[in-house]
Amino acid sequence: ITLNLNKSGVKVSPTLYGLMTEEINHSYDGGLYGELIQNRIFKDNEKLPSAWSKLEENNDNYSIGLNHQNAINKALTVCLKVNVRKEDKNAGFYNTGFWGIPVKPSTTYKGSFFAKASGTGSSPIKVSIESNDGKTIYASAAITLNSKDWKQYTYTLQTDDNIKETADTRFVIHTPQAGDYYFNLVSLFPPTYHHTPNGNRIDIMEMLKAMNPSFLRLPGGNYLEGDKFSDRFNWEKTIGDLSQRPGHMAPWTYRSSDGMGLLEYLEWCEDLNMEPVLAVFAGYTLNRDYLEAGPFLQPFVNSALDEIEYVTGSLNTKWGKIRAKDGHPKPFKLKYVEIGNEDGFDRSGSYDGRYAQFYKAIKTKYPQLEIIATIGGKDNLGMREKLTLQRPDVVDEHYYRTASEMESDANHYDDYNRNGPKVFVGEWATREGSPTPNFNAALGDAAWMTGMERNSDIVVMSSYAPLFVNVNPGAMQWRSDLIGYNTLRSYGSPSYYAQVMFSNNKGDEVIKTIGENDPTQLQKLSKKELDRGLTAKEIPAVFYDATKDSKTGTIYLKFVNTQSTPEDVKINLNGVKKVEPKGTLIVLKAANKDDTNSIDNPTKIVPVKESIEGISKVFTRTFPANSISVLQIETK
Ligand code: AHR
Repeated sequence: ITLNLNKSGVKVSPTLYGLMTEEINHSYDGGLYGELIQNRIFKDNEKLPSAWSKLEENNDNYSIGLNHQNAINKALTVCLKVNVRKEDKNAGFYNTGFWGIPVKPSTTYKGSFFAKASGTGSSPIKVSIESNDGKTIYASAAITLNSKDWKQYTYTLQTDDNIKETADTRFVIHTPQAGDYYFNLVSLFPPTYHHTPNGNRIDIMEMLKAMNPSFLRLPGGNYLEGDKFSDRFNWEKTIGDLSQRPGHMAPWTYRSSDGMGLLEYLEWCEDLNMEPVLAVFAGYTLNRDYLEAGPFLQPFVNSALDEIEYVTGSLNTKWGKIRAKDGHPKPFKLKYVEIGNEDGFDRSGSYDGRYAQFYKAIKTKYPQLEIIATIGGKDNLGMREKLTLQRPDVVDEHYYRTASEMESDANHYDDYNRNGPKVFVGEWATREGSPTPNFNAALGDAAWMTGMERNSDIVVMSSYAPLFVNVNPGAMQWRSDLIGYNTLRSYGSPSYYAQVMFSNNKGDEVIKTIGENDPTQLQKLSKKELDRGLTAKEIPAVFYDATKDSKTGTIYLKFVNTQSTPEDVKINLNGVKKVEPKGTLIVLKAANKDDTNSIDNPTKIVPVKESIEGISKVFTRTFPANSISVLQIETK
């Protein structure tokens, strides 16, 4: 490979690598969002009430049931009523959490609930985290309910230092004294990232931080649209105190608590130094219901304008003031707003007009914003609608593929029109392996990333999807996801580590490369054949690209070897003035392509970093079989 260092190359987009997120696979409830109580406001009622049970099913001294007569407000309309007819130390009810409550040693859990009791005016109750058979109490607290009206109570549960981690657990409220009890918004949090109240799970946040992401596309995905209009991500109902959030039915088969609301997304961005890429609902839902551009769409355009004001407005604006009241006076930075999600599936062709209506209204008020259209690109999930009324600033393209499809198309952007809109590859993934992808998928991803990086003058942003999966039985809706976790632990797939390697070794300038097996040349030749049905063996076996940090002089050569044999590569640093003989090599490799990481074997495949010697203006390096490598070369 010859790296042409005589000329400066195109810039690497500083926002090339980011995150895409939505409520899917229990990404937030039962995932990133710290809440441990499932169905905390009793609105998930298909199983009457889901996740909650009576402590002793056949005990006639007491009963539990949903109650609709004691609304706290418009959001908290249904509560749990416990009727204890006869004093009984075994009276009470429990929550199974999200596949158990994570019990860890020396840990402080903070909880709260709304309650009222019709007893003597002083009802002693107990809350505890227990083993599922009730024999082991890991932590407990006594509380006295002293009001016949709704009142919020708080409590702290502390585990000892000598217990073993377990999720074979439940959260119990014991109500021994005779009387009627009512409960709502029952909540329990473990320690959260940065100790933020209503915050996020620490291990998962640490994993995201290691990806060094530059943006977060929020809040979806299908989750933005909802199955029907009433199930869209209605941002106004996701802000403010938790007691004001009714939650909503999400498209991925379960209800969302909306504890991860608009402000929590933005604070998540702040925590990891990411810019929000705000997707706004555009009048089209998953059941393919839509509103044509015009006066009936305008309320949704107005809602998007309000949402942008909530994110960016000063304290002199209506929504900026509300954001301050919600706890965040400082406006957030915002550059990109996306109109809808995958509206190219709307076969009516209404997106052309809807996009133009949103574009005009947003640009008039916020000329500095870049407006992303959610359709565009060649071979983009088969979406064919073209925008004729308004040229988009950026188009969002989605690619879900096999490894050989990714590899055969790794030159996708090499001949893209440089005069058209910029590209945001807002969802992409090589889908091999489940619940998280295997090493072959990581090879496909890495090949694809060399292509995006080489063309990052036009590909300004990219985000893998989906990001998360709870690997507990029944939690998953999408079968290949970047990061897996259960109630206690999390792990990264090989694809996750490929992202970590690329994102942390990005540079700011693309170096032109020429070589035998040049992926751009090889694939260009075989493209016609691809149309006629290229077979896997004709797909190039190696992929590479190079970038440079113009300040430090560090060169990042990424090399992907998909073969089961090592590859000797002669590297020619054409035009380099000075080069350090010592460099750094980071390698992710696997013995077999279907090898993978899992919750029980989380670090089978992880990047290994070593110092290497022997780098000169022309040198040879052997890249292992089945490997993704980043070679750091110092030139200053
Ligand atoms: O990432 C999973 C889904 O794939 C997203 O919700 C949707 O936008 C796409 O079709």
